[in-house]
Amino acid sequence: MTILGYFEDQVGAKLAEVLSASHPINSIEHLKGRDKELETIRRSLYAPGRHIFIVGDRGVGKSSLAATAAFGYQSSDSTPIFVSGSPSDTFNTVIANIASQAVRYPRTENIKSTQSFSIQISGITIGAGTERSDIDIAAAIRSVGDAVEILSQIAERHSEKPVVVVDEFDAIRDGNERNMFAALLKQMGDRAINIKFIFTGIAKSLDELLGAHQSAHRQLETIELPKLGWEARHEIVESAVAAFGLDVDERVRWRIAMVSDGYPYYVHSITEKTLWAAFSAEDPVIEIGWDLFSLGLRDAISSINAELKRPYEKAVLHRDPEFEDIVWSTADHEDLVRSLNDMYESYKVIVAKRADGRTKIERSRYASQVRKLKGLSFGSVMRQEEDRPGWYSYREKMLRGYVRMQAEANGIELIGERPNPRQAMHVANARSGYRGSSLPPGVRTGRKISDLGGGS
Ligand SMILES: Nc1ncnc2c1ncn2[C@@H]1O[C@H](COP(=O)(O)OP(=O)(O)OP(=O)(O)O)[C@@H](O)[C@H]1O
Ligand SMILES: [Mg+2]
Repeated sequence: MTILGYFEDQVGAKLAEVLSASHPINSIEHLKGRDKELETIRRSLYAPGRHIFIVGDRGVGKSSLAATAAFGYQSSDSTPIFVSGSPSDTFNTVIANIASQAVRYPRTENIKSTQSFSIQISGITIGAGTERSDIDIAAAIRSVGDAVEILSQIAERHSEKPVVVVDEFDAIRDGNERNMFAALLKQMGDRAINIKFIFTGIAKSLDELLGAHQSAHRQLETIELPKLGWEARHEIVESAVAAFGLDVDERVRWRIAMVSDGYPYYVHSITEKTLWAAFSAEDPVIEIGWDLFSLGLRDAISSINAELKRPYEKAVLHRDPEFEDIVWSTADHEDLVRSLNDMYESYKVIVAKRADGRTKIERSRYASQVRKLKGLSFGSVMRQEEDRPGWYSYREKMLRGYVRMQAEANGIELIGERPNPRQAMHVANARSGYRGSSLPPGVRTGRKISDLGGGS
């Protein structure tokens, strides 16, 4: 067994400290590659009346950035207020939730007074020993003005610099309810109420979320969160491995960075399982090499949450055997939107790499099979680009990473994205071995189609 010097419970405890596949991060120490975004948020929040909206795809790290930024801004006399949107939420239920969170977290021990506070609204009292359900509170809010009144009382009593995180704002289904937040921010600005809001959501634009008429563009700094950069992916792996006093083979580090497709969850999950594989190894491990990575990758795949892997399974299980190759071919290459021609090239390379000498299907059949991937019964894996016949993208971008992991575990290395030279210029962490835009010598990052003669 082994990582020398560790028992199972110690491995578990350390992994929990250095990796977080299952929960958002809330400290700068563990939030990798988001220095620029944190700086933008910090600077924006100096402006009175300005709030933050973090938008990005599912799983890129919105909640983590929001939480870390919130803890950064919140004064030390209390903790940030966290609420999360759900389909059945209304403006009133969210505000009610904020109110009851605010009174439930009175000033911390930093300050001597442990006294909590209460909020009065429409003749009811929230907090100070009164048990009010969120339903009661929601019912007492009759207008945006009432909500502003509640927030103004929170601003006065909660802490010096209070901040509210409204995570998954876009989950609130009713557009009219969401629009009321635009009005809220405006009125808060007019009354100079000192509470900052940080929203997160998956939608592309604020108009989509807040409605074009009443949009609160002047009140909101929008942060569009991209996938995690290369440095950050490497840092997650390296810092976790280093915490056990181990090294990681550079090629392995690169493969983890590549198959993850920039989704931190995959990086955490593969690294965690790989370290467990190291612990289970017969001989003492010094460096994480290819074999442990393969074992870790397999374990990571089988523990990926069911909701994420279901579309993949719908597309390949109990289907013609070619579907596996077809789906993998759609996840090749860095472009998110790809043409049928391009994907068919990837498909040919994949078939040629298959050890079982399978024969490839014709272009026309390939096209009709890819079209099927749009269907519900095939998990709606792909969607066709509007006004661009023959061009496809992933309906759920995060699924692409899972498809890549599947291909990799079956011995097919897909071409990943290329490290972007601009990202490579900001080398933040002195511990990171990676110093430039080019790959280290001898690192296989996937084959080029031209390397294989493009086999037709
Ligand atoms: N900058 C980062 N560095 C390291 N790990 C990160 C970073 N951002 C997020 N993570 C990790 O990635 C996972 C997903 O992050 P998070 O939950 O913040 O994403 P999200 O965009 O809110 O996802 P969802 O759309 O599912 O709500 C978490 O396990 C988190 O710990
Ligand atoms: Mg989230």
